[in-house]
Amino acid sequence: MKNRTLRLAPGGGFDSASISDEGPPAAPGPGEVSVRIHASSLNYHDYGVVKGPMAPKDEARIPLSDGAGEVTAIGEGVTEFAVGDAVVSTFFPDWLSGRPVNEGFGSTPGDGVDGYAREHVTAPVSAFTRAPAGWSHAEAATLTTAGVTAWRALFVNGGLEPGQTVLTLGTGGVSIFALQLAVASGARVISTSSSNEKLERLKAMGAEAVINYRDEPEWGRAVRSLTGGRGVDHVVEVGGPGTLQQSMTAAAVGGHISLIGVLTGVKGDFPLIQSLTRQLRLQGVLVGCRQDQQDTVRGMEATGIRPVIDRHFPLEELIDAFRHEESGAHFGKICIDI
Ligand SMILES: NC(=O)c1ccc[n+]([C@@H]2O[C@H](COP(=O)([O-])OP(=O)(O)OC[C@H]3O[C@@H](n4cnc5c(N)ncnc54)[C@H](OP(=O)(O)O)[C@@H]3O)[C@@H](O)[C@H]2O)c1
Repeated sequence: MKNRTLRLAPGGGFDSASISDEGPPAAPGPGEVSVRIHASSLNYHDYGVVKGPMAPKDEARIPLSDGAGEVTAIGEGVTEFAVGDAVVSTFFPDWLSGRPVNEGFGSTPGDGVDGYAREHVTAPVSAFTRAPAGWSHAEAATLTTAGVTAWRALFVNGGLEPGQTVLTLGTGGVSIFALQLAVASGARVISTSSSNEKLERLKAMGAEAVINYRDEPEWGRAVRSLTGGRGVDHVVEVGGPGTLQQSMTAAAVGGHISLIGVLTGVKGDFPLIQSLTRQLRLQGVLVGCRQDQQDTVRGMEATGIRPVIDRHFPLEELIDAFRHEESGAHFGKICIDI
């Protein structure tokens, strides 16, 4: 059995990726499964690993945190999966449920440990959940990071209720899932983008109002006036220091801001007074636990939501796929066929 595998040299970098046949994985031991990985999807975090800054300095790493495929063998004692089941990887195989137990990415496939830029893997059962019924492997691969993060931000931490208002920023994977889930839950959604064409697509997907954040630098105030001066109940904050001030301006008194992303960098001023006077609830999010993913799978099936896939690339063109992500031209998820 061949096992085409893409590895980054220590330190990462687009030029450091190479594909070779690493041979079949070990047969599954007790509590383990073997999976033929058929697809992955890109996240900004994977970009950080592959481009370099986040890659391990002293190890050659298999990148990509998201992996979906089919169970090919099960080890002793495995009852949750059977051969032939469609499964999708978990971001934290060691965080099963309840309160967070992980600081950082030490146990995350594609960062602290090897990920899914390969054809075959053998791993503990907790490294996978079942995939939504009827989804393609590429669709399933969008859940591990982006889908679960949007789910956790809105429902687990946010306690989103029908009739509340949600603000999403830009049109990347997390934001599009957040828009879909919020609309499906009976919430009102206001969305931003730098592209008027993408704004039209957001409206077609159910956003009640849209704002071009390039044309309207004070978009926080624009969001407030769209809500009659009250502000939004939830902000899915993927921008970081360059957007946080505006997100706080957009939030209602007592509003919830999910601190998720760093698209504009990692350092900046923190508007402390505004967070106090407006009694905002800022919650850092790092994807979610295995239970959150199982709940996300059920939620996707019940709502009928399907992921928005911008483009597919074969594994051999992984770096082209990251350049496409870097360009910001995409809308939703970029998938890798393996
Ligand atoms: N903490 C977590 O658990 C977690 C999980 C997943 C992702 N993240 C983080 O969340 C962020 C988004 O991740 P992703 O994978 O969804 O990224 P992505 O798919 O690469 O999204 C990129 C999109 O973000 C939008 N964007 C860029 N700069 C923006 C700005 N200044 N204001 C508003 N939107 C902006 C752009 O949308 P337009 O083209 O429409 O302008 C761009 O196309 C990243 O920082 C990522 O690391 C965190």
